[in-house]
Amino acid sequence: MGRSWQNMNHCTRAGGRTPATLALLLSVVSCVAELAWHVEGVTIVGFYSATCPKAETIIQQEVQSRFNSDPTISAALLRMFFHDCFVQGCDASILIDPTPGNTPEKQSGPNLTLRGFDLIDAIKSKLEAECPGIVSCADIIAIATRDAVALVGGPSYEVKTGRFDGKRSRSSDANILPSPDSDVDQASSAFASQGLSLDDLVVLLGAHTTGFARCGFFSDRLYDFQGTGQPDPTMNPALVSRLKGVCPDPASGNSSDPTVFLDQGTRDAFDSSFYSQLQKHNGILRIDQVLQDDSRTSPLVSRFTETDAFFPAFISSITTLGALNLKTAETGEIRLDCRRVNPTTPNPPAIPPSPAQAPASGAPPPRKPSSPPPSRPTTTAPAQPPGSGSPPVKPHKSPSSPPPRRFPRLPLPLPLPPLPLPLPPFRRLSPPANPFNPFP
Ligand code: HEM
Repeated sequence: MGRSWQNMNHCTRAGGRTPATLALLLSVVSCVAELAWHVEGVTIVGFYSATCPKAETIIQQEVQSRFNSDPTISAALLRMFFHDCFVQGCDASILIDPTPGNTPEKQSGPNLTLRGFDLIDAIKSKLEAECPGIVSCADIIAIATRDAVALVGGPSYEVKTGRFDGKRSRSSDANILPSPDSDVDQASSAFASQGLSLDDLVVLLGAHTTGFARCGFFSDRLYDFQGTGQPDPTMNPALVSRLKGVCPDPASGNSSDPTVFLDQGTRDAFDSSFYSQLQKHNGILRIDQVLQDDSRTSPLVSRFTETDAFFPAFISSITTLGALNLKTAETGEIRLDCRRVNPTTPNPPAIPPSPAQAPASGAPPPRKPSSPPPSRPTTTAPAQPPGSGSPPVKPHKSPSSPPPRRFPRLPLPLPLPPLPLPLPPFRRLSPPANPFNPFP
């Protein structure tokens, strides 16, 4: 709860001096606005501009640096963002590692091939060194994704921040992710269950303009589509024969699982070529190709072959995706290590110091943890360039964990100091600079 305390401790410290009453009134107004953020999970552009001004720059530099050695990281982040937000909202629940009592989202079938967790660790580590306990892992994924999209030529857009990290991550929750074999009805009803429209489905699947897919996700379309013993008739025969040269027939017993680019046009670039490829029946996944073949979605496919139509729509839909089911101060936290929820406080939470006890600087004294953090389990992080066969499974290298910090939990609703009465006559003042105010 580091951010909760740092952001709101002035709420409990205002007043007590002359002209204390006016200061107190202003403080009350600002605290009410901040409470909206704590209780409702409001996000704003530039949330960290006061508490961690270098946050977005640090994230951008780390993404750029990884991109320089591995350009495929862009697609990996974009997919991670989708899989995080779609399941339990954008709360970094996708990052949680397994523990003896819990199988997390990242161990569910659709998530086994996600990549880039180590980059999020590296970013978090830098941010904890810069401003401890402030930047949520959920925001790191959102900002890193935005930067990754720009690096491959996609649109630039602003990301609202101020998300909290979730405390729950269950493998079974991820079953709601649509299958690559879905038709439009199946995928759109899965999207609708998360508050996303049919338009969102078509435009967000445009993310398949980058990245790759393992043959195992579509090889039935090459060899035995829906039990017919024949290829999918909606796949371009030239593509079928080309892909047969890459992907083995599952019935052959060959278990290798190579990859192919999802966009057979411009491959790594984020552009509208994906949609043009669908019109040529060169979609790799069934869910991609059905967008062209369904009368409800084909007009959108046609429209998004124009970058000028696709980019603004993508910004709008990814912003909607990034606002799904945000956690609040009550239901979330600022994780100190993105791979595990913060250690729970065994004793009743400490209450912030009262105005009389607070040190003049306003900074609470550092609190010592009562127990060391449990050791972190490791996971595998598969990564491979397209066409290179099955990914070598490398043990994940955990960055050194930051020492655990425990912050006082803020009781909600917030106890505000009593108003001294009678109040002085009302005078209009300019509001104090408050970067957390979601209602500027
Ligand atoms: C109906 C919805 C979707 C389905 C069924 C689906 C399915 C898949 C599958 C099967 C892969 C291949 C994974 C692999 O081989 O490792 C993939 C890759 C990818 N997906 Fe999706 N996807 C969907 C929606 C989205 C959305 C909404 C986004 C982003 C906004 C997205 C971004 C990506 C990216 C960037 C890749 C390439 C990943 C990489 O190169 O590592 N997908 N998707």
